[in-house]
Amino acid sequence: MKTIDDIDVNNQRVLLRADLNAPMKQDANGVMQISDDGRLKASVATINDLRKKNAKIVILAHLGRPKGEGKPELSLKPIAKRLGELVGIPITFIDDLNGADTLTIVNALKPGEIAMVENIRYEKDETSKDATERQKLAKVLATLGDVFVIDGFGVVHREQASVTDIARLLPKAAGRLVQAEQKAFDKVLNNPVRPYVVVLGGSKVSDKLGVINNLISKVDKLLIGGGMAFTFLKAQGFEVGDSLLEVDRIDEVKQLIKTAQEKNVEIVLPVDVVISKELDGSAPVSVVDAHQIPVGQKGLDIGPKTSELFAKKIADAKTVVWNGPMGVFEVNAFASGTKTVAQALANSDAYSVVGGGDSAAAIRLLGLDESKFDHISTGGGASLELLEGKVLPGLAVLEEV
Ligand code: 3PG
Repeated sequence: MKTIDDIDVNNQRVLLRADLNAPMKQDANGVMQISDDGRLKASVATINDLRKKNAKIVILAHLGRPKGEGKPELSLKPIAKRLGELVGIPITFIDDLNGADTLTIVNALKPGEIAMVENIRYEKDETSKDATERQKLAKVLATLGDVFVIDGFGVVHREQASVTDIARLLPKAAGRLVQAEQKAFDKVLNNPVRPYVVVLGGSKVSDKLGVINNLISKVDKLLIGGGMAFTFLKAQGFEVGDSLLEVDRIDEVKQLIKTAQEKNVEIVLPVDVVISKELDGSAPVSVVDAHQIPVGQKGLDIGPKTSELFAKKIADAKTVVWNGPMGVFEVNAFASGTKTVAQALANSDAYSVVGGGDSAAAIRLLGLDESKFDHISTGGGASLELLEGKVLPGLAVLEEV
């Protein structure tokens, strides 16, 4: 895989596919504001290095899923402004990829300058299932660059015009973020130092079955929290009250528990849970034994004994992967388990990788020091697919000759 050190970018127009898909919120004046700029910050290293190498940078990115429509609330304008602040130079914004002056703006860039094209998903061909349609758009994009750099790790699991098709039309290389993400996942997937502990959470067990199936032959311990733990508890014959449950997955989970036993992998489930009738913290909250959740109550976080147990297992590990919160961490009453797990990871000497999406958001929302983790992934779906052992098209295309 080539990196930006292996291709000539000096005085070249570099088309840079970044993942700047940040969570946005409308403020009181109806203006869209970025609520977490983590992905923007993660894109700065490549931009800085390209600027040092005298490249003229044209950024391609998406926001949300506008499905070929120019939805104003999904404009990249606020993203371009914030990224410009982070990089320390204003970014020229190109409102319309197909506008009459787009090529003129790009060709007028001087080395070190940056332009950003409006949300690439405003173009319906970007996400088309039809390769010919995507290739049509990729050809238009290729007129704006001399080389292509993929740095949007969060989209490398997508077969899309600005990710894979464009890479087949121009000299290509990986950016610093994609390099860092690949290195971290390679280590935990192929070369983990033992004991190796994986902590999984999040609401749905169905989202994580692929990951568990792939990791079950690699890990020493699997700690399960979050909503998905209740399907495990049920599979072991316990009642879970009104907690999240995927009845249609119980048999698969039973099989996983059996496989884990055969492979000598310890599955650690909650021993106590925080329960309430309401998700939003408005109803009384209490802690019960995980095997005695009353009817009418939902388990919404792992309990203090489980937190302590998980923290101890993490402290004993040499490699830890964490993906998915332990409870409804956005609500204070149910944030403690996620906080304890994150803190245990931050305190441990283990090589630690945090999956993107909710777990990365939790670290920032809880105000934890990000530098205490070896790698916090920027990819939600992409990191899950890597952990599932899948080949990601946006990475595979970099190996094509
Ligand atoms: C993400 O948010 O995980 C990436 O930006 C990919 O977005 P998508 O799931 O809409 O393709």
